[in-house]
Amino acid sequence: MSRPLLQLALDHTDLHHALRDVELLAGHVDIVEAGTILCLNEGLQAVRSLRTHCPDKIIVADWKVADAGEALAQQAFSAGANWMTVICAAPLATVEKAHQAAVQQNGEVQIELFGNWTFDDARAWHSIGIRQAIYHRGRDAQASGQSWGEADLARMKVLSEIGLALSVTGGITPESLTLFRDINVKAFIAGRALTTASQPQQVARAFHQQLTDIWGEY
Ligand code: 5RP
Ligand code: MG
Repeated sequence: MSRPLLQLALDHTDLHHALRDVELLAGHVDIVEAGTILCLNEGLQAVRSLRTHCPDKIIVADWKVADAGEALAQQAFSAGANWMTVICAAPLATVEKAHQAAVQQNGEVQIELFGNWTFDDARAWHSIGIRQAIYHRGRDAQASGQSWGEADLARMKVLSEIGLALSVTGGITPESLTLFRDINVKAFIAGRALTTASQPQQVARAFHQQLTDIWGEY
């Protein structure tokens, strides 16, 4: 198992504050995400601006696309994203259109796994060329008391066997990483743990210490 990457999710309501955290944290993370909340507030400019500020990072447009896969993928990748998210509830045709547009621009689509989806869905995504998914405990689910459990870990293992590289997110903290020690994780996505911390760089270092302790050096 290789060491997972660390992704910073920027779910700020304005670009100014998001960029302040980019300034503090870009050097500590591998991937920078234009979060859903930021993109709804600031539009395409969020992705464009992150590309300008982080020329060497993987940039994710977390748009959770449900329809118009081709048009939105063209917009996201033209603005500088490397990866764009599509919600698992989207029709397969939407996933396929988004994937084809992604491939044309050397990008990748990630399927956001919330709520209802099946392993047959996962096999169908894989069969049309999708290679990444995000295993997500939603903010609202977390707030209503949902925690990670054995069922999540078991489902993650099956998704890996199907051939999907998994990112894991939803209230992730440095302390929570040990839960996933037996899972093949491509990236941990952290938002609030970093952006609401009084010492964000210290928390980023704590993430890396945990990643090294569990999965070793890069
Ligand atoms: C919510 C998201 C967030 O970006 C993701 O959950 C990471 O944020 P946090 O660590 O604050 O949960 O996509 O839908
Ligand atoms: Mg997000």
